Amino acid sequence: MQPRQETTFDIEDQPQIFADATPKIRSIRFGDWEMDTWYVAPYPEEYSWYPTLYICEYCLKYMKSKYIADRHKMKCPMKHPPGDEIYRDGLISIFEVDGRKNTIYCQNLCLLAKMFLDHKTLYYDVEPFLFYVMTEINDTGCHFVGYFSKEKRSPLNYNVSCILTLPIHQRKGYGNLLIEFSYLLTKRESKTGSPEKPLSDLGLLSYRYYWRNVLFEVLNDSPEALSIEGIIYRATSMTVNDVVATLQINNMLVKDEENGTYRIVVDKDLIKNHLEKVTAKGYPRIRTENLRWTPFILTRALRRAQDLENEKNISKQEQQNSTDRTNKIVDDEMDVD
Ligand code: ACO
Ligand code: ZN
Repeated sequence: MQPRQETTFDIEDQPQIFADATPKIRSIRFGDWEMDTWYVAPYPEEYSWYPTLYICEYCLKYMKSKYIADRHKMKCPMKHPPGDEIYRDGLISIFEVDGRKNTIYCQNLCLLAKMFLDHKTLYYDVEPFLFYVMTEINDTGCHFVGYFSKEKRSPLNYNVSCILTLPIHQRKGYGNLLIEFSYLLTKRESKTGSPEKPLSDLGLLSYRYYWRNVLFEVLNDSPEALSIEGIIYRATSMTVNDVVATLQINNMLVKDEENGTYRIVVDKDLIKNHLEKVTAKGYPRIRTENLRWTPFILTRALRRAQDLENEKNISKQEQQNSTDRTNKIVDDEMDVD
């Protein structure tokens, strides 16, 4: 980490600047960092009057002053997000946090995210969501890098609701890593998925970057021509719409004027060149084998089955106890006799 004065972000550098309202909270102190905010977040009125908000980088509690934040730091018991660590690769960890079980943490996370998101997002109704929080470990703890939220059950098959990389960590490939991770979860669920719309400008740029790379990798690895279903089937977990849109944007769909059908045209050299450039960036990638996770629905279903089984056992046990008690009473009575 850098000293505070070197890490202060200049508002002018940010691509999205206070679209329609000037935030009262103009910056946040987060661990050793200070960041200018981009948008207004609905913190309680009494916190909104201070130009700088102090946020604990571990439990995400927000505070009005450095004095309170310093005192909190001394007694905060957390050194990593709550929930289960479901992925680790070197210094990177990802925690799954349930909005129902860690409501305050997730509400604080949504408020933090809102300061960098212009569209409406949820703040308080976090129970229907799971939050995947990515951290970087050093000897002082697991430091927050970014996160995405995901509905426990999405009727529209959204696999990400909101995604954020903290500005201090942006443009280092972490957003791409979070997106890659969200698709890995979707693959494990044997589904296809897409992010919730509308996407922000930065969201769209990041998704287009990810989708193009994934399709290029699949096309590069495939010895023969592929259909759209073939591409989806071959491990992308992207929706048909996203595959088609990505092929179109990259001029890879050509219409056959005679029969009105489309075919995928692949320029292998172009794809190879592009992938070499991407690899040269050295951005982190997800290691599929490092994920320790069972899809939410399945876990719940199993747990419910287990609960039912336990209930049955308890009721059997109670019946047995009651029979034992009756027998004992009968025995005692017989003894008396
Ligand atoms: N300008 C141009 N291209 C960009 C930018 C940018 N500011 N940000 C990302 N990209 C594109 C680039 O191609 C980039 O590759 P490059 O840096 O090698 O050129 C590629 O996306 C991958 O960028 P990452 O470094 O992986 O992404 P990052 O960690 O910066 O996170 C994110 C991207 C999450 C969108 C971040 O900008 C952010 O948190 N923004 C604010 C919140 C937001 O808008 N979230 C998305 C809302 S939509 C939704 O939630 C479903
Ligand atoms: Zn704390």
